[in-house]
Amino acid sequence: MKTILVVQGKGGGPKTATVRNLAVAAATAGLRVGTLDTDPQGSLTHWHSLRPADVAPIAGEQRVLGEVERPTPQDLDLLVIDTPTAVEFFPESTALLFDAADLVLVPVRPGPEDLVSMQAMLPYLQSRRRPMRLLLSQIQPRLRETADARAIISGMGTPAPVEIPLLQEVPRSFMAGLGTAEIPGTRTGPLFRDLWAYLSVEMGV
Ligand SMILES: Nc1ncnc2c1ncn2[C@@H]1O[C@H](COP(=O)(O)OP(=O)(O)O)[C@@H](O)[C@H]1O
Ligand SMILES: [Mg+2]
Repeated sequence: MKTILVVQGKGGGPKTATVRNLAVAAATAGLRVGTLDTDPQGSLTHWHSLRPADVAPIAGEQRVLGEVERPTPQDLDLLVIDTPTAVEFFPESTALLFDAADLVLVPVRPGPEDLVSMQAMLPYLQSRRRPMRLLLSQIQPRLRETADARAIISGMGTPAPVEIPLLQEVPRSFMAGLGTAEIPGTRTGPLFRDLWAYLSVEMGV
């Protein structure tokens, strides 16, 4: 089983959206996928409760950060872990999650607040010594801030070769219990598939 840990320093975006859309992309590619929701707010767990019966199954487990132990290997090909915003309040649990991760994925939105918070979290992320990829997300391609963010994050680590645009289809898919890769005609669906294809090669799946 491979494990992807999705973490980020700044609140509001978009960890859970990344987790569920990546999980769906992998599940629709035929893998046995599960998610672990360590956020007490439980939005990923809520999304699981909305999932229709006739889509690719994704196992969902909730164990709140602070109580979580090392994730036990399950009968899965891929486990994707969602985290709350303030992981630094639970250093021991957080360290266990990093130790279990084959890859750490850090979503970053363009804009000064997110980039400042990413910069602040970088020494911690690097100290965990796990393979890390940065994902620019909620981007507006034509804004100057997007180009600025590309340049800044390439100095912080390895950006994924896929960027996720800011589109209402992403929050809408939450309420449908779906990932956008399950909704024909979405723009981000193929991008999440590309993201999974890239990460699977990087992890040697
Ligand atoms: N690419 C996107 N385009 C538009 N809205 C998005 C996108 N990604 C996430 N969102 C929305 O942004 C909000 C925060 O994202 P979420 O993944 O819940 O953040 P976090 O889990 O880090 O708190 C949610 O309402 C989510 O649906
Ligand atoms: Mg969340």
